[in-house]
Amino acid sequence: MKNLFVFSLLFLFAISTGYPVLATPGSEMPPRGEIYTKVGALKIPFIKHEPPNGNNTVKFSAATPAATIFVENGALTYLDEVHAVGLYGPRGGGVAERDGVMHRLDVIEGTLGKAFGVMGGYITGSAALVDFVRSFASGFIFTTALPPAVAAGALAAIRHLKTSERERRLQRERVALLRRRLDEAGIPHKANPSHIVPVMVGDAVRCKAISDLLLERHAIYVQPINYPTVPRGTERLRITPSPLHSEAEVEQLVRALAEVWAATGLRRAA
Ligand SMILES: Cc1ncc(COP(=O)(O)O)c(C=O)c1O
Repeated sequence: MKNLFVFSLLFLFAISTGYPVLATPGSEMPPRGEIYTKVGALKIPFIKHEPPNGNNTVKFSAATPAATIFVENGALTYLDEVHAVGLYGPRGGGVAERDGVMHRLDVIEGTLGKAFGVMGGYITGSAALVDFVRSFASGFIFTTALPPAVAAGALAAIRHLKTSERERRLQRERVALLRRRLDEAGIPHKANPSHIVPVMVGDAVRCKAISDLLLERHAIYVQPINYPTVPRGTERLRITPSPLHSEAEVEQLVRALAEVWAATGLRRAA
């Protein structure tokens, strides 16, 4: 973090963290200057309505090296690590931890769903920034707190993944195995350095049909990803192997996929 003191704020979902944090400075802060919170002064890091390059957010994914996402010209740096916490970095802190750049970011957003297996979202940032969001963000103020049982589950999962490398290693192995077996079966998938393996279909109707057939014939559910989540013509299945998927299950998935691929008349990769 840029400031010495790092605080966190818990939300019911990660999706409710980003909007309050990005929207709160926009709606509550004066165009520039400083705002005083209980725990210190917070410098307004950007000029309202004049974001750098005409963009007020920079989109990137867990696969993007964190070092490439910084907006250096005075903008608030906000990193969404929802897909990365628990999975990357020596203590599961995310890609910023893996790349040793956490201290260069103003806000990091994470989820207690996905890798940590429960639900809830959080931001971490300087004490002043977190206090500001806590005081002004309607998405934080007007919502239920995390139930104690969920918080206990999150605590146990975070403690475990802070020290255990086993799950991260197993997942990397399963992802590599899946990619290798897809290549051997001639099923096209997009190369990326992420644990999310996009199997490219390129047609919305076929994408849904493959997902339906996988479920009906093989009892395997893989979600079809269609427009508007991805651009038209790039429809895909998104597969995320977990550390708990066995090698046999990966084989079973690829065999099933090869069968429905043929049944829906899709071309194999060369
Ligand atoms: C990139 C990204 N950020 C945030 C979220 C929201 O996380 P949560 O499900 O904890 O609200 C998601 C949800 O899947 C996501 O894909």
